[in-house]
Amino acid sequence: MLEALVGVLPPGRIGLRLSPFSNVNDVADSDPMATFGYAIERASDFGLAYLHLVEGQTSGSRDLPPGADLKALRARFKGAYMANNGYDRDLALRAVEAGVADLVAFGKAFISNPDLVERLRRDAALNELDQDTLYGGGAKGYTDYPTLRTVEAA
Ligand SMILES: Cc1cc2nc3c(=O)[nH]c(=O)nc-3n(C[C@H](O)[C@H](O)[C@H](O)COP(=O)(O)O)c2cc1C
Repeated sequence: MLEALVGVLPPGRIGLRLSPFSNVNDVADSDPMATFGYAIERASDFGLAYLHLVEGQTSGSRDLPPGADLKALRARFKGAYMANNGYDRDLALRAVEAGVADLVAFGKAFISNPDLVERLRRDAALNELDQDTLYGGGAKGYTDYPTLRTVEAA
């Protein structure tokens, strides 16, 4: 897969996202440290932009199963590491400051905050997420959350 991708895109424009410990949709690995450790090490040779791991259950608990070791997985990748799952501003800042992550990806907070970057920069309050519109299939909940400017002007 990566071989095919680097045939058409520069490796520095490709990121790899893996969910080693998540069993969402009943997808699980019996030995994730071995399977994903090997995959990450192989991927490391491609010079990708980043490795991105979902830490825990996708969009759920950050708890890891016994034997899971994110640091050990990350250590098998030579490039940048992007962390994800359940991060807020403080946790993200602490992870980057501690060198545990180079970048942090936000999911739900980005859906409910079109100007998330600006809000995080200013340490401003975030819009509350409406869980009911997450998988609705329509525009509602994806195009109508207010920006900070709209909130402040109101
Ligand atoms: C509406 C929605 C759809 C998502 N779809 C996918 C998906 O197709 N594949 C995937 O790996 N993760 C998917 N995710 C998970 C997110 O990419 C992300 O890993 C997760 O929300 C945890 O990050 P967060 O705590 O910042 O939201 C989805 C999340 C949401 C809220």
